[in-house]
Amino acid sequence: MRIPIIAGNWKMYKTVDEAVALVRELKEKLADVNNREIVVCPPFTALHTVYKELSGTNIKLGAQNCYFEDEGAFTGEVSPLMLKNIGVEYVVIGHSERRGYFNENDDLINKKAKALLLKGLKPIICVGESLEQREAGETETLVRKQVFRDLDGIEPYQLKNIVIAYEPIWAIGTGKTATSTEANRVIALIRNTVKEMYSPLEANSIRIQYGGSVKPDNAHEILTQSDIDGALVGGASLKADSFTAIVKF
Ligand code: PGA
Repeated sequence: MRIPIIAGNWKMYKTVDEAVALVRELKEKLADVNNREIVVCPPFTALHTVYKELSGTNIKLGAQNCYFEDEGAFTGEVSPLMLKNIGVEYVVIGHSERRGYFNENDDLINKKAKALLLKGLKPIICVGESLEQREAGETETLVRKQVFRDLDGIEPYQLKNIVIAYEPIWAIGTGKTATSTEANRVIALIRNTVKEMYSPLEANSIRIQYGGSVKPDNAHEILTQSDIDGALVGGASLKADSFTAIVKF
């Protein structure tokens, strides 16, 4: 059985005070949830404070990015070691906003994934096509290529600590969602790619989320599809009521 994982990607929102206020509301509203894994991913500046707020709760802490070295002269970067040290458990890597605005490629994402796994952290690896790629009929080829490259050299035993998020870029922050059947189809294709690279065992156990305009009113329809194991939520994770409704889909 794959336990659904619902992660809130707060992006570049929330000062420390705002983050504390949101997480206090979430702790209360989500206290009775025990059949889902819940993760919040605040900006770096709020991580440590949110970690302290989350102590003893059923909500886990995630970061939105990292570099792949432990330390060094890499101005502005944050390492897996540093994240581990402040209680982070999950790290989103390869988000389309990182790929798009900051030119991150699959080689870099693969290095980050390996560095995180070495530190005992769990990567949430994002893949997904743009509207142009979808319209050109390239979705399948592109997503398969991303999975092959992002997981390259990762050992079978490490896969249990990896989550993949299928996030069609045209659905992120646009209010457009992939239909539940289309999201399920691409996610099944990702699962099949994992099977090709590893084995049916790994393919059946890896969790694959959907992300892109998940809201309270479409969460149930999307998250009850056979191959979809949760959601990576942007906009709707910034308010306690909407995130709670999605977690309790
Ligand atoms: P959205 O963002 O829910 O606001 O579309 C999803 C994401 O970028 O992870």
